[in-house]
Amino acid sequence: MFNTRVKVKELLATTPQNQEVTVMGWVRTFRNNQFIAINDGSTNNNLQVVVELGAYDDQLLKKITTGASLKVTGQLIASLGKGQSVEVKASTVEVLGECNPEKYPLQLKNRPSLEYLREIAHLRFRTNTFGAVFRIRHSLAFAIHQFFNEKGFVYLHTPVITASDAEGAGEMFKVTTLPFDNPPRKEDGAIDFSEDFFGRATNLTVSGQLEGELGAMAFSEIYTFGPTFRAENSNTARHLAEFWMIEPEMAFYDLEDNMNLAESFIRYLIDYVMKHNREDLEFLAQRLAEEEKQKPVAERSELGLIEKLEFVLNNQFERITYTEAIDILLQSPAYKKKKFQYEVKWGIDMQSEHERYLVEKHFKKPVIVTGYPKDIKAFYMRQNEDGKTVAAMDILVPGIGEIVGGSQREERLELLEQRMEELHIPAKEMWWYLDTRRFGSVPHAGFGLGFERMMLFVTGMTNIRDVIAFPRAPKSAEF
Ligand code: 4AD
Ligand code: MG
Repeated sequence: MFNTRVKVKELLATTPQNQEVTVMGWVRTFRNNQFIAINDGSTNNNLQVVVELGAYDDQLLKKITTGASLKVTGQLIASLGKGQSVEVKASTVEVLGECNPEKYPLQLKNRPSLEYLREIAHLRFRTNTFGAVFRIRHSLAFAIHQFFNEKGFVYLHTPVITASDAEGAGEMFKVTTLPFDNPPRKEDGAIDFSEDFFGRATNLTVSGQLEGELGAMAFSEIYTFGPTFRAENSNTARHLAEFWMIEPEMAFYDLEDNMNLAESFIRYLIDYVMKHNREDLEFLAQRLAEEEKQKPVAERSELGLIEKLEFVLNNQFERITYTEAIDILLQSPAYKKKKFQYEVKWGIDMQSEHERYLVEKHFKKPVIVTGYPKDIKAFYMRQNEDGKTVAAMDILVPGIGEIVGGSQREERLELLEQRMEELHIPAKEMWWYLDTRRFGSVPHAGFGLGFERMMLFVTGMTNIRDVIAFPRAPKSAEF
């Protein structure tokens, strides 16, 4: 039986009274044939296990190497050394799994680079950095459910396989069981998907929103939280081919209600992590501070990680229109000095450099941009009176750019049908979506928060592949 063991986190918080305890975990270091630092993932802090010199057989001691797994029984005592308050004086040490030091790729002596750790993602959870990142990821996921549960939202599981392209961007992974070498064809040579598994062409979902809207039309307020897939060939530090998204959808909400919810949601998540993951945040803050020191002074961020999160907790997001955002960019020194790589004019889909200028240089805080041109946004967004813009909102944050995309939805059937026709979206196949506008249509709104982008913001990590366990990106699907 293994369940008598106590986790390291708990032991470190226990008053030592020479009580007998059992601890299990992996060896981080073994010094002087005497001091084992053991970690079981419950906290970044290791537990020191002391083996009495001469009391153990050499053969056993040789097997206590970095990465080996141990079962230790002993007394919990007040630590004699510095750096920890308690330690375990071992009475028995059992090596559960050996770890050949010649072959183990995770030697912690020289701090391994994040790039290298990405190549051994199956082991990187055992480092302090990834321990902290993934405990925070867990907490954040839990906080998301708690936030919506407290507000009475229904968690709706939307399908992973769909036949529609919610965002209309055509960046979809196909799902098929047809043979690649010789698929059935119609008379005109096109592939005959009627013979495919689902009797039609299907793909992995890019968003649960359309199905989410169906739920909101009955439960009033729902949210989804699941993986979404995009076959966009963006090899950047902010894009994944498989990422998780939280998509609340609310009936009886307009754009302002939507912004208010998104803003309080982000604040709630930050507050939760600040309260529940302090130790891990402090570790990551330290890590980031060291990384910042490597950069030229002009590129360093003004605030440390914890200060940045506190700032977001205590300050309202700036709210501006797209038109105002473009004006700010056109007036900016960066524009005048031709620092932007991409063109700036009304109608552009703002690039990351523009978004980051607004939040990092101009406002120095998160910004919600509303009223984007309809031509750069999805078909379902509610058209504004001006005939040019839609009731869209994006939330931009320092260091990342877009973290949330959302809108009030077009609830007026004729206007929606007209827009779909303009964009060549087959209304016939979307009959079920249009039915929501036929049978008791209501003003409604929603947004999508990219979970990994939120993770980047909270952890201060800079590459999105370092905040998801097994990243999927162009030319990369190991593990
Ligand atoms: O702006 P997007 O494309 O919006 C939607 O999908 C809407 N259906 C959401 C809604 O209104 N219910 O994506 C939403 C968010 C982005 O703001 C970004 O944070 C994240 O999803 N995101 C990505 N994250 C990682 N990798 C990618 N390739 C991403 N694409 C979008
Ligand atoms: Mg977007």
